[in-house]
Amino acid sequence: MNITVIGAGRVGSSVALNCSLRELGDVLLLDIVEGLPQGEAMDINHQLAEQGIDCIARGSNNYEDMRGSDFVIVVAGVGRKPGMTRMDLLKTNADIVKGVCDKIKNYAPDSKIIVVTNPLDPLTYLVLKSLGRKRTQVMGMGGMLDLSRFKEHISTVTGISRDSIQAMVISEHGENMLPLVRFSSLGGIPLTEFISTEQSKDLATKTKGIAAEVISLKGATVYAPGNAVSTMVESIIKNKKAILPVSALLEGEYGYNDVCIGVPCVLGHEGMEKIIELKLDESEKKVFDLGVQSVKNAIQSFSL
Ligand code: 2OP
Repeated sequence: MNITVIGAGRVGSSVALNCSLRELGDVLLLDIVEGLPQGEAMDINHQLAEQGIDCIARGSNNYEDMRGSDFVIVVAGVGRKPGMTRMDLLKTNADIVKGVCDKIKNYAPDSKIIVVTNPLDPLTYLVLKSLGRKRTQVMGMGGMLDLSRFKEHISTVTGISRDSIQAMVISEHGENMLPLVRFSSLGGIPLTEFISTEQSKDLATKTKGIAAEVISLKGATVYAPGNAVSTMVESIIKNKKAILPVSALLEGEYGYNDVCIGVPCVLGHEGMEKIIELKLDESEKKVFDLGVQSVKNAIQSFSL
């Protein structure tokens, strides 16, 4: 497999490292900054060599090198700064991502695409529509990251191993994120058996706010996004058919059309193979509806 990561900053490099460590394929890091992708690739190869992993990382400033890639991971764009919401990045990153789409069209027309650039859900829609792709081939990584944080908080609150946790986070990767306590479990036992209503509200608030805290402390979130992307790529490459939260194009599911938003999806060889529809209760639906509205408002600013 050939995996291209567009954007060789801290997140892009973490994606490249995580995909290589899982031995998913050879990774090309692309960036307009001269030297950066080459340096990151060297550093990654040194780690892989010591570990005896034969996947090769390469760095380049030339988009032509992505020709024939099986996967393209779009990380290009400016990151969230302290005090900013993800949606504040819309205009700047939409312009950058449109430029990236032209390159994908030319050099990797058959690739599967995972969008990471924020605001995640509107930009996943932008990539899908600009390239005229099927919804199976273009998806966004946001919910996986929110899920990582939700699991961490669940483990802290309950004192139960992270390994026993099954959970789900849907809706917008942003202000209307929806951690689903009702659809989460510990060793198969509903999470609601372990925590109070108060604790469950607190879990949701913490899951939503924690990225901003990391950004204010270290400037960016890095390791968790890299891992989250590689979990998605792995499920597709190995045809695992894992159910993962993914930003996908709705075609009637959850009562909506023509919007990309986080929902549970089955990822296999075809890419985003199926959306699982959950029966949301009234309060969950309210947040989900707000998420859809927020993404739809953002989408309207694009001229497609
Ligand atoms: C994150 O949640 C900033 O969207 C990015 O880590």
